[in-house]
Amino acid sequence: MKVAIIGTGYVGLPTGVGLAELGHDVVCIDRDKTKIDDLKNGKVTLFEDGLENLLKKNLKEKKIKFTTSMPKGLYNAEIIIIAVGTPPHPVTKEADMKYIHAAATEIIPFLDKYTLIATKSTVPVGTGDDIESLIKNRNPKAFFDVISLPEFLREGFAVQDFFNPDRIIVGTNSNRPINVIEKLYAPLKYKTNFVFVSRRSAETIKYAANAFLAIKIHYINEIADFCEKANANIYEVAKGIGSDKRIGDKFLNPGPGYGGSCFPKDTMAMAFMGKMNEVDLSLIETTIKNNHARKIKMAEKIIDFLKDIKKREDEIKIAVWGLTFKGNTDDCRESPSMEIIDILLKHPYSISAYDPQGMENAKKILVDKIKFAKDEYDATKNADILVVLTDWGNFEKIDLKKVKKLMSNYKILDLRNMINRNEAINLGFSYVGIGR
Ligand code: UDX
Repeated sequence: MKVAIIGTGYVGLPTGVGLAELGHDVVCIDRDKTKIDDLKNGKVTLFEDGLENLLKKNLKEKKIKFTTSMPKGLYNAEIIIIAVGTPPHPVTKEADMKYIHAAATEIIPFLDKYTLIATKSTVPVGTGDDIESLIKNRNPKAFFDVISLPEFLREGFAVQDFFNPDRIIVGTNSNRPINVIEKLYAPLKYKTNFVFVSRRSAETIKYAANAFLAIKIHYINEIADFCEKANANIYEVAKGIGSDKRIGDKFLNPGPGYGGSCFPKDTMAMAFMGKMNEVDLSLIETTIKNNHARKIKMAEKIIDFLKDIKKREDEIKIAVWGLTFKGNTDDCRESPSMEIIDILLKHPYSISAYDPQGMENAKKILVDKIKFAKDEYDATKNADILVVLTDWGNFEKIDLKKVKKLMSNYKILDLRNMINRNEAINLGFSYVGIGR
């Protein structure tokens, strides 16, 4: 099938490459010429496991193309997938729809034969209706359907998730798109379930799923706090509750609070939609508020842990491991690290940080406010405390003896429980993790 994808970000690019690998003829369109030039040359500018190799393979097989031109990209497309960004509005926090509207408007002249328009971006409920009216008003002769095809790819695992989806949600108000979507994902049909629902339900599912997961993480973080006080172990508790199938064992890892480009944005957009519809979504609102408060609390925990060091604040050196919002990504958007470092910087400490993939993105946010180290060991040189903020697997494999030789005081505050606690204690570190 001929598929055009508008937007080559964390959603559009893995989707485009994945659909090409499934055998479709894909054209990805983006306004950013530099990005398109890189992609034409097989260069992926975001960190996503396995994506670059798959891109190169499909470029070679001529199954995927890249362009900045809408007419070229949309020519003969049977399906147009809209995967542009919907960043939160700086004031109201509602999803900003300007890129969606721009994309919907630009496709209007190209709908001369039946075309399926699928929205993959996370959009407020009712957006499908808006796109449909916009097109019908401007081009009454256009022959098309608008469906909601929400995306559930996790950053860092997008390729794996694309080929192994738990389900494919299709929101449609007519039957025509059903065959088209079944054909589009035909190679995955034995691996997954198609869930056909109304368009507004599909739009709601995306927000409701992300809000539920955010609440689940916040819940386990609260229980972790409780375990610390009650002298219980969060991993034992998570195992015990997670083996109840009704609860499930995923997303029960405690940490410094959720971050990233989806959960913070989608929970806020959902809360906004609740207000607009005069519905009490206080569970989501509380989660947003407390997740934010958790990051402040984590920064205070670090500051408290430094209190017994006999140095002036401006002499204290903090080593930070992890800048991204989670491991296996280069993305620092809404990263707990960024917020925690920001609070620490209100004190005259010096901070030296390392992240396996997030250094470039973190530099754009933090500029020269901290030192960016060469590696984990470099970050800990002369440090009084080591703070672990991201769950990168690399941190589990670190030689703690070597770290101890480099540090000037031996404190570890491990907000992701990545370090071997017993080993750290045996080596003489004063170690604090979370939830145990
Ligand atoms: C999320 C959804 O999982 C995905 O389905 C959706 O399409 C996009 O949003 P992503 O933002 O890539 O994906 O990250 P995810 O792996 O879900 O983690 C989100 C945040 O929650 C991270 O900060 C992570 O560290 C945190 N988290 C996750 C926890 O603190 N504990 C957990 O058990 C799981």
